[in-house]
Amino acid sequence: MHDISTDFSPSSLPRHVAVIMDGNGRWAKTRRLPRAEGHRRGVEALDRVVEAAVRIGVPALTVFAFSSENWRRPEAEVSMLMRLFASGLARWEKPLADAGVRLRVIGEKSAFPEAVQRAIERTEKATETGSRMHLNIAANYGGRWDVLQAAQAAVAAGEALTPESISGRLSTAADGEVDLLIRTGGERRISNFLLWQAAYAELYFDDALWPDWGEADLLRAISWYVGRERRFGMTSEQVLERRVESN
Ligand code: IPE
Ligand code: IPE
Ligand code: MG
Repeated sequence: MHDISTDFSPSSLPRHVAVIMDGNGRWAKTRRLPRAEGHRRGVEALDRVVEAAVRIGVPALTVFAFSSENWRRPEAEVSMLMRLFASGLARWEKPLADAGVRLRVIGEKSAFPEAVQRAIERTEKATETGSRMHLNIAANYGGRWDVLQAAQAAVAAGEALTPESISGRLSTAADGEVDLLIRTGGERRISNFLLWQAAYAELYFDDALWPDWGEADLLRAISWYVGRERRFGMTSEQVLERRVESN
């Protein structure tokens, strides 16, 4: 394993990191535990990763907690996830507010049980002035839904449909494009996550299962990201020239 740098210059850090937290069920299965235990341990991994992201200085972190397709899971698992979500929100309220983290839940919130919607509102309110990091929890989220709702809002405001009028209305508009998209759990797919925002993201796939993730894994992903050459359509030579000019 290569050395993991922990000292990144702020300009080299990804401004917006997104994570598809996958592998809770398989983590539990290999241990002959119920899937619910995998999800509980997944929440603990999220605690570790949020803390690490704040420490490292990542400005925005968006995590996929529940997709619009996850309603298709067995009812018992869905209701367990709802309870876990509501209790997590209540537990995070104070630590996040103290750490200066602004939490927002992105997704179609009206589909959630009342108690979950109230928990969301409370935690969002309690953390709304946080400016150290933005934490977006994607729940009942789908990338196609996000693009559609943004386009519908632009049309309703009488604006022409342009990349800017849509970008500015996406649920993560304040955090811009995704620089680094991480998926744990070994699958190499997007699963309808931040489709528009991740158009130029660097994609990092890790076979480790989400409940095993923590600070060292995030640092490894960020070190990998820092070593990428992001060309945005240009040639490598052009990218180097620009770098010299801006120094
Ligand atoms: C991700 O873990 C968490 C959610 C989708 C809620 P999974 O539950 O998808 O875990 P696997 O993919 O079955 O291992
Ligand atoms: C994607 O994981 C959604 C979350 C991590 C919440 P899934 O495990 O549901 O993805 P697919 O359906 O296997 O692609
Ligand atoms: Mg999965």
